[in-house]
Amino acid sequence: MKLLLCYFSATGNTAKVAGVIGEELERLGAEVEQRDITPLSDRSVTVDMEPYQAFVIGAPIHSWRAPRVVREWLRTLDGKGKKCAMFFTYGGFQVPPTHHSTKQILEEQGFVVVSSAEFLGAHTFNLGGWRAVEDRPDASDFAVAKEYARNTYARFTGEDNGTLGEMEKTEHAEEVLDSIETFRFKTLTQLPTRQGEPCSMCMVCEESCPTGAISAEAGEVEPGKCIACLACVANCPEDALKINDMKHIWTHKLEMEKVTEESIKQKKSKIYL
Ligand SMILES: Cc1cc2nc3c(=O)[nH]c(=O)nc-3n(C[C@H](O)[C@H](O)[C@H](O)COP(=O)(O)O)c2cc1C
Ligand code: SF4
Ligand code: SF4
Repeated sequence: MKLLLCYFSATGNTAKVAGVIGEELERLGAEVEQRDITPLSDRSVTVDMEPYQAFVIGAPIHSWRAPRVVREWLRTLDGKGKKCAMFFTYGGFQVPPTHHSTKQILEEQGFVVVSSAEFLGAHTFNLGGWRAVEDRPDASDFAVAKEYARNTYARFTGEDNGTLGEMEKTEHAEEVLDSIETFRFKTLTQLPTRQGEPCSMCMVCEESCPTGAISAEAGEVEPGKCIACLACVANCPEDALKINDMKHIWTHKLEMEKVTEESIKQKKSKIYL
C-alpha cells in the first residue's frame, strides 16, 4: 500500500511525531512517501492523489485550528474518495474544534477520514519564555503515535472498516475563530527582527518561513504575511532573530485557561477512532 504522509511543522514537534508514525506504517508494510509542506514552495505544487491508496496529514494547532496556510492547502486537494487520517501537536492548551474543523475540510475535498490524534508538543511561545509542556513530545507520546499508526493502518487496509466519528464542535462562527487567530499578536508584540545581531546570511529564515514573510537581507518581517509560527527564530543558526519577552504573560495565560504548569504536564496524547 502506497501512502502519502504530509506534515507542516514550524518548530519540529509535528515533524518528530510524523517521523515515528511514518516508520511504524513502514514496519507494518506500507510504502510511505513523506513530504514536509512547511516551506511555501512545497505547498505551491499541485498534489495528485491518484498514485496513493491513502493520505495522512499532520499539523500543529494554531489558535484552535490547523494553521491557516494548512487549511488553505488542504482546500487545493482532490481526495478522490480515498481514506485519510489526521494528527495534530499542541502546546497543552485548547484543542477543539481542530479535529472537527479539519475533518470537515477533508470531507469537503472528497476524503473519507478514518482516524485522528493529538500529541503534546512544547509550545512555540516557549521561545519567548513560556514553560508549556517543555519536554514533549516524549517517549509516552511516541508510544501513542505508534499505536495510532497501527489503528490507522488497520483502517486503511480494511481490516477494520470503521471511520472517524463526530468530533467536538464549537458554537463560534468561522469569523469568531478568525478573530481568535489575531490574538496571537497580543502576545507576539514584536515580530522576529535581527536588531543588528550578527548574521551569516545563510538564508535559512527565508527558506523556512511558510508564508514568505521574512526578508533575510533586511532582517525584518512583513506583518500582514506573518502567522507567528516562529520557524525563522527556531531555525536561525546564529540565534540572530529576536522577539519580545513573553515571560510576564505566562502566569496570566495559565489563569485565563484555568490550568497550572503541572496540570498541563499531566496531559496525555490521545487517539480518536
Ligand atoms: C500561532 C500559534 C498558535 C497556537 N495555538 C495553540 C492552541 O490553540 N492550543 C495549544 O495548545 N497550542 C497552541 N500552539 C502551540 C503549538 O500547537 C505547539 O507548540 C505545536 O506542537 C507546534 O508544532 P511544530 O513544532 O510542529 O510547529 C500555538 C502555537 C502558535 C505558534
Ligand atoms: S537564518 Fe539567521 S543567520 Fe541566517 S540569514 Fe536569517 S537571520 Fe541571518
Ligand atoms: S516570519 Fe512569521 S511566518 Fe515567517 S517564519 Fe517567522 S514567524 Fe513564521
